[in-house]
This record gives sequence, structure tokens and C-alpha cells, in this order.
Amino acid sequence: MTKFIRGARYTIDFTLNGKPASGHAEPRMLLSDFLRQELGVTGNHVGCEHGICGACTIRIDGRSQRACLTFAVQVDGRNVETVEGLAGQEGELTDLQIAFRKHHALQCGYCTPGILMSTVDYLERHPDPSEEEVRDMLSGHLCRCTGYVGMVRAILDVARQRNSSANT
Ligand code: FES
Ligand code: FES
Repeated sequence: MTKFIRGARYTIDFTLNGKPASGHAEPRMLLSDFLRQELGVTGNHVGCEHGICGACTIRIDGRSQRACLTFAVQVDGRNVETVEGLAGQEGELTDLQIAFRKHHALQCGYCTPGILMSTVDYLERHPDPSEEEVRDMLSGHLCRCTGYVGMVRAILDVARQRNSSANT
């Protein structure tokens, strides 16, 4: 096990949205701060810094996690995905992003990157959720603007579309 020395800066080599990335951080630096301040990945929003609001949610090795509850050094050698990695090479939006726009699932957008990253992970593991299950998943995120109705509609719409194209 690596022994970290307080105050020293460590090199972190990892994969960020499918590409090699590298930066330096003290052992105490949060992944959310590392992404934003060291690498300029500002789609990773920071709200509470206590694991409550969900604004900082990213994926690590395919599972959604709070970047504010993860130290930067913990992602050395791992695969990190942020909201910046969702759209295609030419900026084409995913079905989920399109559905969020269609159903007015965002207003200020501060909560949106984290909710999108949680939902990507959730739909991979729960491809046919009920409204109640979607609401349960969203309960891990705070949105002060929307009332969640548009998000629920968007997520159910995407699940329905994916399931109907899988069955044709
Ligand atoms: S900033 Fe990470 S959960 Fe709120
Ligand atoms: S859209 Fe403003 S906090 Fe959710």
C-alpha cells in the first residue's frame, strides 16, 4: 500500500473521458478540486462538499461516485468519466441529454452534470425503471429549481425509447 506524505505532491495518471490524463495533487486534495483546479474540468460542479447534494457526481470505473468524497490520489490508474465525456466527438448530444432538453429537465443547470452521470450509471443497471424507482434514484441529488418532474419524464422517456429499439 502506498504511504502518502503530508504536503508532498503526487503524480496521478489516469484515464479521463477515454483519454490519458495526468496531474499533481497533495494526498488531501479532493477529486472535485483536482478536476476543476488542476485540469480545468469545470463540468464537475461543487455544491455542499459533504456528499449530500450530488452536484459533483462522476463515474469511476463505471460506477457513479461523489468526487467531493474521493481523494484525487485514489483515481491513479483508474477510469474517470465526467459530463464532458458524454457528448460525441462533434458535440452531438446523447439521448439522455436530448431528453433533458426536450422535457425541460433543467433550469440553472447547476445540478445537471451530477444528475446526468448518476442517470447514465443507473440506466445501465436498471434499464426499465418505474417512476418510483427513478424518483428514488433522484433523491440522491438536490435540485433547487425544477421540482424534478421534467427529469423524471426525461429518464422514463429514454428508458422507454431504448427498450423499444432493443425490441425491434
Ligand atoms: S459537492 Fe459533492 S455531493 Fe455536494
Ligand atoms: S436546475 Fe438549478 S439546481 Fe437543478
